[in-house]
Amino acid sequence: MHQTLAGKVVWITGASSGIGRALAAEAARRGARLILSGRNEGALRETAVLCGGYRTAKALADGAPRLPADALLPFDLADPGARRKAAQEALVLFDRIDTLVLNAGVSQRARFAETSPEVFDLIMQTNFGAAVDLTRAVLPQMRDRDSGMIICISSIAGLMGAPWRTAYSASKHAQAGFFSSLRAELYGSGIHIAMVYPGFVRTSISENALSGDGARHGELDPLQKSGQEPSETARIVWDKLETGALDIKVAFDFKAHLGVFLARYFPKLFVRSISKHGGL
Ligand SMILES: NC(=O)c1ccc[n+]([C@@H]2O[C@H](COP(=O)([O-])OP(=O)(O)OC[C@H]3O[C@@H](n4cnc5c(N)ncnc54)[C@H](OP(=O)(O)O)[C@@H]3O)[C@@H](O)[C@H]2O)c1
Repeated sequence: MHQTLAGKVVWITGASSGIGRALAAEAARRGARLILSGRNEGALRETAVLCGGYRTAKALADGAPRLPADALLPFDLADPGARRKAAQEALVLFDRIDTLVLNAGVSQRARFAETSPEVFDLIMQTNFGAAVDLTRAVLPQMRDRDSGMIICISSIAGLMGAPWRTAYSASKHAQAGFFSSLRAELYGSGIHIAMVYPGFVRTSISENALSGDGARHGELDPLQKSGQEPSETARIVWDKLETGALDIKVAFDFKAHLGVFLARYFPKLFVRSISKHGGL
C-alpha cells in the first residue's frame, strides 16, 4: 500500500505546535490540502502560514481560490460535544477526509496518588476518548469510498510505562489497543490504520504536561531538549507512511529501544531502572 499525499485532504489535530505543526508543514510541501485543529487559533494561523498561507473567510466567500491550509478548525478535544461538532464541520469542508492524523495530546507529570480524578480523566479524554470519537466520525465516509487512512501519534509511553505518567501512558496504551484491534477489523479494506511511536522530539510536550492539580508543568525535560527536531520527525514519518509502513518508531535513540526491550522481556530490571531515573 503506497499512498502519496498529493491532493489528499488531511485533517491534523494538535496542528498548533510541535510535531503536529511540523507534520502539517511537511504535508503541505507534499501537496496535501489541510484542515488544522488545536485550541489556539492564533497558533493555528502561524501553522497555516508555514503551510503556504491561508485566505480569510471573506476572501474565500468572494471567490478567491483556496490555499492548502485555509481550513482552520479550532476546538477543545477534551469536550465531547465540541469534538463531535468539529468532526461534522470537518467532513463538509472538503466533502471528505482522506487522512486523519490524531496527533494532539497532553502529558502528565505527577504521581498517581497526587493526580486528581478530574486531571486523570482529562488526559484520557484528550488523548484517547477524542481519538475514538473522531475515528467514529470519519470512518463511515471512508467506508463508503473504501479508502482512507487514520494515523495515531502514540508515544514510547504506549509501549512501556513510566512514573509520573500513569494517565498519559494508559491513554497511549489504550490508543495502541484500540487501533490495532480496529486495524484487524478493517483488514482487506482500503482503509489503513498507522501507529507512530515517537521517542524524544524537541517540543513543548513536557512544559504543557499537567501536574496533579491540572497546573501546567512548565519545565522542558532534558530528553525533549536533546530530542529530534520536529521537522525531521515529520519528514521521516511521512516518508515511511508513503511507503506503506503501519507501525513507526521515530526519534528512538538507543535508550528508547533498550527501555522498550527491557519492559517487555526483563520487567524486574526495567522497573528498577526506570524508577531511578524517573522516566522517559
Ligand atoms: N515530543 C515528544 O517527545 C513526544 C514523544 C512521544 C509522543 N509524543 C506525542 O506527540 C503528540 C504531539 O505532541 P508534541 O510533542 O508536539 O507536544 P505539544 O507541542 O505540546 O503539542 C500538543 C498539541 O496538542 C494540542 N492539544 C492539547 N490539548 C488539546 C485539547 N484539549 N484540545 C485540542 N488540542 C489539544 C495542542 O494544541 P492547543 O494547545 O492549541 O490546544 C498542541 O497542538 C502528542 O500526542 C504526544 O503525546 C510526543
